[in-house]
Amino acid sequence: MTKITFLGHSAVLVEGTDQTILLDPFLLNNPQYIGTLEDLPEIDIIVLTHGHEDHVGDAIKIAEKNNAIIICVVELANYLQQKNENVKFVSLNIGGAYYFPSGDIKMMRADHSSSLVNEQGIPIYLGLAAGVLIHMDDCVIYHAGDTAYFTDMQLLREEKVDVAFLPIGDTYTMGVVDAIRAANSIKAKKVVPIHYNTFTAIEQDVHLWANYMIEAKQNPEILEPWEMIIL
Ligand code: NI
Ligand code: MN
Repeated sequence: MTKITFLGHSAVLVEGTDQTILLDPFLLNNPQYIGTLEDLPEIDIIVLTHGHEDHVGDAIKIAEKNNAIIICVVELANYLQQKNENVKFVSLNIGGAYYFPSGDIKMMRADHSSSLVNEQGIPIYLGLAAGVLIHMDDCVIYHAGDTAYFTDMQLLREEKVDVAFLPIGDTYTMGVVDAIRAANSIKAKKVVPIHYNTFTAIEQDVHLWANYMIEAKQNPEILEPWEMIIL
């Protein structure tokens, strides 16, 4: 059994038989997250899609507390490693995967940027932004990260994705219409919208998106923070 819990914005918790994975753990400063870091289960692996603050979030704190590894693109991993010598990073690049007993985590293409603002207030560019494909137990989960729509998303059809997490907020990622194009390309069994309504700049009518999705014969599933899908 795999339990997939939405934590608000782009944060997703995946609990499988032998690994607990936390994606984009922007929690304490996330207006959608309800609770504290103590409300999380024990985490084995943290995955960061890219360096933006609304994705890196509390990754270091959670990694330290749980002795969890952090998986991300090499430039982001190197930057964070310099500042946090006690945390174990696994650096991948697009197309590369990390393997564990019941599956793997693969960094996928995303059309987006990746940077962090340093202590001097200067943005540091940190390689490519990524999406994430997880095979775990018998489930396939795709988290698009922050991305625009690109037609190669249709290659994911071969993966027979059970649940796809797609941004719909517009402004910084694809919006409602492109998210439906993405859903049509991927053909996941379920699509959960992410990266919307956290801030004014990404306000969306999620029910309108869901209606368009149904018209397009796709299966939308809106999750409130802490709601879950069990596969
Ligand atoms: Ni971003
Ligand atoms: Mn973002």
